[in-house]
Amino acid sequence: GRKFFVGGNWKCNGSTEEVKKIVASLNAAQVPSQDVVEVVVSPPYVFLPLVKEFLRPDFHVAAQNCWVKKGGAYTGEVSAEMLVDLSVPWVILGHSERRALLNESSEFVGDKVAYALSKGLKVIACIGETLEQREAGTTVDVVAAQTKAIAEKISDWTNVVLAYEPVWAIGTGKVASPAQAQEVHVELRKWLKANVSADVAASTRIIYGGSVNGGNCKELASQPDLDGFLVGGASLKPEFIDIIKSAE
Ligand code: 13P
Repeated sequence: GRKFFVGGNWKCNGSTEEVKKIVASLNAAQVPSQDVVEVVVSPPYVFLPLVKEFLRPDFHVAAQNCWVKKGGAYTGEVSAEMLVDLSVPWVILGHSERRALLNESSEFVGDKVAYALSKGLKVIACIGETLEQREAGTTVDVVAAQTKAIAEKISDWTNVVLAYEPVWAIGTGKVASPAQAQEVHVELRKWLKANVSADVAASTRIIYGGSVNGGNCKELASQPDLDGFLVGGASLKPEFIDIIKSAE
């Protein structure tokens, strides 16, 4: 079985004080056990040591990005090796905000995923279509091409979670309907079966992100091919606990 996965992407938010408050509220929460749900929160780099120090041991942390190869003369970047050094187990790669605002290409994201995995990190790899692409009817082609750019660079999918995040749903309050999300997840699993392997298609978790909140998570979570969430705005709020509970 694919264990339910709930990620909280804090994006570029928080202060020392706010981070301590969020961690304290997570630590006090009654949630399903680690056998039922894997919970990973992703603060900005500078807060990773603080969060790691105080976060309950059954929750884990992710960085929001890392460099595409070994560190060196790359001002402003953080390497996969540094995350490993800090015992940060996860990294989010290919988020649509980075693809759009920082021009990260699918090929670059594929290289990043491969390098991070080679250093022992686990990867939340993000894909998703824009509104324009959805309206043009190219959603499946777009997410398949983004997945292909990753599949071409890796052979072992054990440590990959695929996050389907339609760009039009991110931070907009316009959540994909359960049927819309399920449909794309099914297509992604078909793509993996045809192009990687039946085993990878069956075992890889495909999670949904985009305006997930405490009110809409239950119905989304009931979709058979939806294996969890990557939550933005609501991951900074108490309702993140309700989203974790939707695993049951
Ligand atoms: P929102 O939940 O704020 O829409 O963001 C989703 C997201 O981008 C998670 O990575």
